[in-house]
Amino acid sequence: MNTYDIAVIPGDGIGKEVVPAALRCLEAVADIHGGLKWNWTFFPWNCEYYLQHGEMMPEDGIATLKQFDQIFLGAVGMPELVPDHISLWGLLVRIRRECEQSINVRPAKLLRGLESPLRNPEPFDFVVVRENSEGEYSQAGGAIHSDEDELVVQNAIFTRRQTAKAMKYAFELAAERRHSVVSATKSNGIVHSMPFWDRVFGEVGAAYPDAAARSVHIDALCAYLVMRPQQFDVIVASNLFGDILTDLGGAIMGSIGIAPAANLNVERKYPSMFEPVHGSAPDIAGKGLANPIGQIWTAKQMLDFIGLPELGELVLGAIEDSLAAGVKTRDLGGSATTEEAVSDILARLYRRGK
Ligand code: NAD
Ligand code: IPM
Ligand code: MN
Repeated sequence: MNTYDIAVIPGDGIGKEVVPAALRCLEAVADIHGGLKWNWTFFPWNCEYYLQHGEMMPEDGIATLKQFDQIFLGAVGMPELVPDHISLWGLLVRIRRECEQSINVRPAKLLRGLESPLRNPEPFDFVVVRENSEGEYSQAGGAIHSDEDELVVQNAIFTRRQTAKAMKYAFELAAERRHSVVSATKSNGIVHSMPFWDRVFGEVGAAYPDAAARSVHIDALCAYLVMRPQQFDVIVASNLFGDILTDLGGAIMGSIGIAPAANLNVERKYPSMFEPVHGSAPDIAGKGLANPIGQIWTAKQMLDFIGLPELGELVLGAIEDSLAAGVKTRDLGGSATTEEAVSDILARLYRRGK
């Protein structure tokens, strides 16, 4: 029996609805497999926890998480209760940093059964490899003056080590796919980090002569993703560019509610964290309207990462079967509740698993 100890942090808002849905799918996968066991340990760390304890997680929270094989997280943030910069830096971003989850892998593809809001797009299938630990999300900066001279500074920090690591990951991934890597850049503007980013991209790419490598300005890239997303295979992007591109990726798939993500510690020194692209969606939280597919597809990424890709394919196949049968939540133009969507996916998982 293969046993996996997973730390589960449902978090805030719809995280509390879609995480249980995805865990049911993972339990079904274990049933089907027969030799796989999940040990879930739940952590109630979220904005309500902050209001009670004055912190998003206990002091030894990171040390606790490091004892697990992987972390499965919903979403964090309830800006009406706790300012985002406190809740996100106190939990989500802190885990990414301290567990050294420096690569964020975010696929986007047109699923069977789904209609993109784009007019008749050709089938597309690309992956954004997002640098996940520095860049525009650095902690360097702050307010310098107050009152009428108010001024804040945000320093973007790009290290060669981390930039090259994200790019190498992208090229390795492309070698298993369609051998194309596009780098999201902005070296034509007054962004000092980007000529450096381009230079490292050229150097890293030189070691992969079989890959077609090119740089595309981030503004044009956003437009190309809308006009002809089928042209892209692997896209490597800085932290902020990758963040923005992947909500766009979700949208052109049909909804950001289906977009998956994996924060990887590629060295496997500490746990990786699996959490979808979308947030806590306060506007629909508690109403049973959340689309569980982003979280379930994220579970597929966890299965892939722990070396069970055939089970991952089973999950994605069941998601597509369900969509193709027309079971869609409101964000996809349907009327299914979260419960109806997950029940249907579960039934199709068992059918495929027979
Ligand atoms: P959001 O992703 O929560 O919501 C954006 C829009 O998409 C909303 O209209 C929402 O209803 C819809 N949506 C998102 N997920 C959906 C789903 N699964 N099913 C159906 N509809 C869905 O982004 P936001 O409103 O900018 O942020 C809300 C909070 O979440 C903020 O506190 C933000 O900081 C936080 N956030 C957290 C994460 C994370 O923890 N990984 C990611 C993004 C945003
Ligand atoms: C994401 C989110 C986070 C990010 C926020 C909530 C800090 O938008 O995971 O895409 O920007 O990384
Ligand atoms: Mn985001």
